[in-house]
Amino acid sequence: MKITRFTWLVALMAVLALGAAACGSDDGGDAATDDTEAIEDVASEAGDAVDEVADGAEDALGEAEASAEEAADSGDLGLAAEGQMVVGSDIAFEPFESIVDGEPVGFDIDLMDEIASRIGVEVEYQNTPFDTIFTQLASGAFDAIISAITITDERDETIDFSEPYFAANQALATPEGSDITGVADLGSETVLAVQAATTGADYASETFTDAQIQEFPTSIDAFTAMAAGQVDAVFIDLPVVGEQVEQGNAVLAEEVDTGELYGIGVQEGNTALVTAINGALEEIIADGTYAEIYGEWFEGDVPEQFAS
Ligand code: ARG
Repeated sequence: MKITRFTWLVALMAVLALGAAACGSDDGGDAATDDTEAIEDVASEAGDAVDEVADGAEDALGEAEASAEEAADSGDLGLAAEGQMVVGSDIAFEPFESIVDGEPVGFDIDLMDEIASRIGVEVEYQNTPFDTIFTQLASGAFDAIISAITITDERDETIDFSEPYFAANQALATPEGSDITGVADLGSETVLAVQAATTGADYASETFTDAQIQEFPTSIDAFTAMAAGQVDAVFIDLPVVGEQVEQGNAVLAEEVDTGELYGIGVQEGNTALVTAINGALEEIIADGTYAEIYGEWFEGDVPEQFAS
């Protein structure tokens, strides 16, 4: 804007000078030489002025870039405490998050650690119940949440989500030897466990209307109840069922295609943080780090949308 306006002014001056020079050109040879010199002077001055403006613009651009970098360095990411990202998670959702020897571990934890290191902040995890995780984030208890959280329109109304970082379906799990072999067997006698406030709980109560649905605070509670024979089946995210199958605690009765995508949550309007997280995530996927982390926690190939 600035450059354009100034350039126009200089150009206008040059035209006016040319006009003035042309008007006085009937006076003979000397006058003509003077005129040529005058035109050359104006033209060269105009050139200098344009160069100066260009230099100024370059400087301004350089300064803007430097200050953007500084903002990122100084952690101007809308964090409650500069340089530290407090991350809420219901750390009872293996293999995404669980506590081993007092420390959080899992796919989400490795991914979030990597994101934090790339945006240059320390990360502190806070174990929190899933059913209050969104209100807690919105009220400022955390800077971000990672908890195998399905991106939904309803949740998106109160918080902001990163780009998706994982794709998952739901699944029905039963104990070994159960006569429930799929969702079609869920009758009025069936006691079905779900985790409270999850997409699985919503899906089950809307779809398996005959079954008696029991809500548990965590996925661990739901599987413990099934092991104790208190419930007949568990309906929850497929990768969590996969983990229980692998540990010998459950059988996969049926996968239900719900096509869910997990996202990292931030406080509504914290564009700086969500932009930084998305940037890091993109890099992590592109340079193959995502595939490495995926390989630590899951079998098989990285889904195409997260492959580098
Ligand atoms: N993906 C499901 C949902 O968003 C379940 C998430 C539960 N996560 C957890 N860490 N408990 O509702």
